[in-house]
Amino acid sequence: MLNEDERAHLAAHIGHYPEPRAGAIYTLQFLQRKYGHLHNEALREASALCGLSITQLEELVSFYPLLLRRPVGRRVLRICDSIACHMAGAPALLDEAVRLSGVPLGQPSADGAVTVLPHVCLGLCDLAPAALLDEAAHGPLDAAALAALVAPENTGGQ
Ligand code: FES
Repeated sequence: MLNEDERAHLAAHIGHYPEPRAGAIYTLQFLQRKYGHLHNEALREASALCGLSITQLEELVSFYPLLLRRPVGRRVLRICDSIACHMAGAPALLDEAVRLSGVPLGQPSADGAVTVLPHVCLGLCDLAPAALLDEAAHGPLDAAALAALVAPENTGGQ
């Protein structure tokens, strides 16, 4: 649940726009940083602040792949699977990521340290195959670089 300071911060941000709904993306990003993902209560809070229905917020979340409705690990590794990265070996990297994490794509690893997600073009095509670990860009990735990214010392896992 948002505390008073957080609510006031979001209300002030939203207040800069002529329409409260214009602050929805910022509000959803804020709530995702706070909770790790956008659970139902987060959407209810965003709805109250931005004046959008839950359905309208679901539409936004389903459109932007950086917004997450399901729980993830403490860190999120997004591996691009769009054309430039696909041609440069992304499918093999995604397979290797599943092997290294021990869980299917999209699920938090057993220690909760990391979730690996396939992702549409990250705008890092010159680094293909590319990835984002949280908000940090990495590439070109090979199996060794991927293993280093998901290693416990890099993800806070065990
Ligand atoms: S195709 Fe992978 S970053 Fe653009």
